[in-house]
Amino acid sequence: MSASARGRFIAFEGGEGAGKSTQARLLAEALRARGTEVVLTREPGGTPGAEAIRGLLLSTDGEGWGARAEALLFAAARSDHVEKLIRPALGRGAWVVCDRFLDSSRAYQGGGGGLQDADIRALHAIGSEGLLPDLTVLLTVESGQTAYRLALRDRGVSDRIGGRDLAYHANVLDAFNRFALAEPDRFAVVEGDGPPEAVHRAVLAALGL
Ligand code: TYD
Repeated sequence: MSASARGRFIAFEGGEGAGKSTQARLLAEALRARGTEVVLTREPGGTPGAEAIRGLLLSTDGEGWGARAEALLFAAARSDHVEKLIRPALGRGAWVVCDRFLDSSRAYQGGGGGLQDADIRALHAIGSEGLLPDLTVLLTVESGQTAYRLALRDRGVSDRIGGRDLAYHANVLDAFNRFALAEPDRFAVVEGDGPPEAVHRAVLAALGL
């Protein structure tokens, strides 16, 4: 069976501005060019219900959510996304390429927000029966993250979570790096610096494509 003959579930992870969306799109386009059915999606979101929860999570109106409520909302959005979009796609043999998944909750609500990793995983077990991607591509960016975030903030367009302080985001990045070290078979770490086409080639190589 060739690598693309059965569906695989690939997630992209990383901090703010790591280029996940671009790389997810480039991977989806490359797979489609090979004749593979691909569902390109994102979190939080991907289904109408999950997109509605995304609005609740990222809106800068009102006082926002505590870390626990936030984790529950992400898990609820993911549950809808998995049940209605991801599992059916995998079931019919399509590939699923997802911009963020469970490891974002572990890094943001766990590493950044201080919740226990076991609790985040317990929510995922309840919400999504513990579904994990076949491979998670962690995009790391050495330069530019801080500049990117400050530029966003200056333009006043940061969302509720992206707009948190640099210490929060440093903890998020530390957490992602720890996860990749702890589970090297589940993660491929790809340097996100450089031209998108070069990063894309590194992503394809990491996937054995
Ligand atoms: P996204 O729109 O993908 O932002 P970005 O373009 O920076 O990747 O995600 C919105 C925000 O939600 C982002 O700051 C990360 C955060 N997030 C969590 O805190 N937990 C999660 O489980 C997910 C999926 C996202």
